[in-house]
Amino acid sequence: MEETTSDFIVVGSGIAGLCFALEAAQKGTVTILTKKEDFESNTNYAQGGIACVATAEDSFEDHIRDTLVAGAGLCHEEVVRDLVRDGPPLVRQLIDWGVHFSTHGKGEDSPGQTPPTDLALYDLGREGGHSHRRILHAKDLTGREVERALLKCLRNHPNVTFLEHHVAIDLITEYPIASPKCCTGVFALDVEDSRIKVFRASVVVLATGGTGRIYQHTTNPVIATGDGIAMAWRAGLPVGNLEFIQFHPTAFYNPTGETFLISEAVRGEGAILRRLNGDSFMEQYDSRGCLAPRDVVALAIDAEMKKHGDSHVLLDCSHMNEEFWTDRFPWINQQCRKHGVIPPGDPIPVVPAAHYSCGGVVTDRMGRTRIVGLYVVGESAFTGVHGANRLASNSLLEALVFSHRAAVSAMESMAPPPTPLRKLPKWLDLFSPAGNVEGVRIEHCKTEARSLMWDYVGIVRRTDRLRLALQRLELLKKEVDSYFEAGNAGDGVVELRNIVQTSILVIECALCRKESRGLHYNLDFPKTLDAEAHDTILDPLSWTGM
Ligand code: FAD
Ligand code: SIN
Repeated sequence: MEETTSDFIVVGSGIAGLCFALEAAQKGTVTILTKKEDFESNTNYAQGGIACVATAEDSFEDHIRDTLVAGAGLCHEEVVRDLVRDGPPLVRQLIDWGVHFSTHGKGEDSPGQTPPTDLALYDLGREGGHSHRRILHAKDLTGREVERALLKCLRNHPNVTFLEHHVAIDLITEYPIASPKCCTGVFALDVEDSRIKVFRASVVVLATGGTGRIYQHTTNPVIATGDGIAMAWRAGLPVGNLEFIQFHPTAFYNPTGETFLISEAVRGEGAILRRLNGDSFMEQYDSRGCLAPRDVVALAIDAEMKKHGDSHVLLDCSHMNEEFWTDRFPWINQQCRKHGVIPPGDPIPVVPAAHYSCGGVVTDRMGRTRIVGLYVVGESAFTGVHGANRLASNSLLEALVFSHRAAVSAMESMAPPPTPLRKLPKWLDLFSPAGNVEGVRIEHCKTEARSLMWDYVGIVRRTDRLRLALQRLELLKKEVDSYFEAGNAGDGVVELRNIVQTSILVIECALCRKESRGLHYNLDFPKTLDAEAHDTILDPLSWTGM
């Protein structure tokens, strides 16, 4: 089997993977594998922006405190300190790499203008849980701008090979003589050629993003199926805090199709959540009203919808003037209009939807894992930063800071490329490009898994529902594993295998937590307990299941 060797393999082309690649390419050759087109990622859809201390009125201590408060007692303070302190210079580096953030006034994005290096000169947004305006954004298209600029730096880079439509399937791990377990590459499916390829390197970086697509209703694009988490678990790595799935309070309510995000920055500019009869309700739940942290707002909306039998609530932006609205939120404006809603006059129908995974693969403060040569960065990683609830706009920042740290560590510990692979796994010997599993079966299983997660593992949980979902998912796992082991490794089966594995891990984590905290609310354990103020870590080497 053909093998391609490089110094670094990066799986994923969101902010985490691209920032790592850009730094590592100064030192060696980098192969980037990505599932769809190069830009397709959660990053590409980020709206609100990147949180970082930017003005003299703000301080590191305030950003740290806001992050710890949102995290409901589970953030690792020393890692939060790394995040907040390393943020401003790395945001400036993004600007140097060509990212244009919005400044005050109009026309700020005109090409040819030198962007300011003083972060205080940017238009700073506000979101829930932040005590200051500290969010740099590119109108409501921040992620698209970040992807545009980073991809521009990487395309045609002499040290970088970019492979789109390449789905990583599993990690290659080995025990070299007298060494601990090492990662030496990945098996990947070239979707356009229907071929499995082997990529080898002494450093492999998983930057595969989030898990939103394990749920029926989500703000995440189709790539977010928890692939990195499932791959790392299969390779023997522990995962942490996966019960803390963040449901964004305001996704556009679309009873017949895909949803899209209505940024929290809209509430940051004063928009008010109302019931269908026009009553505002957030003040009954939290003194911070519509700008309370997301766990509080999503739970409140869920409670109001259930109490009144409503399918959604409304976001009232009518206090904004039209000129401000269309300039600040052009993308949201365009999307709403496509659905017949004309803001700021029309209230926007909204519901919560799965948005972000606070947990992931356990890493240290340099993005390293227990497997030598394997790093995990961005949303797939569990660094300890977010605790039980992520503060808005801290995710792009986390990806930026920890991909940099991982790059520093990986460049220091570069080793010669691994020797050619001697033994292939059984599924690869049996691989048949056409496969013999009907598409309808794969799609049925995906829909079943995603609706189980939505109905039984959503915002409000109960232990019996969690157990029921786990039993059903174990059955789906048996089914998909049998397809895979028989050599059916098409992209549908590969993705389903990861959706099912990641869903099981989310439920196992949820069952371990015998309390309610942050984003995890279980009706059988409604209180927050001091005795439960610890992370949930599942280790495949010792885990026997709930
Ligand atoms: P991603 O950007 O998701 O990139 C993952 C990459 O991995 C993709 O390229 C994908 O194709 C690839 N991939 C996945 N599996 C495989 C595989 N098996 N093989 C090959 N490639 C694979 N956070 C903020 O801080 N601020 C915001 O304003 C903000 N707004 C958001 C708005 C939306 C609608 C969404 C969905 C999220 C938002 N977030 C925001 C969260 C933030 O965007 C993500 O957490 C962050 O972008 C994750 O970056 P990443 O590089 O880790 O992953
Ligand atoms: C948003 O714009 O509301 C998303 C911000 C985030 O997820 O951090």
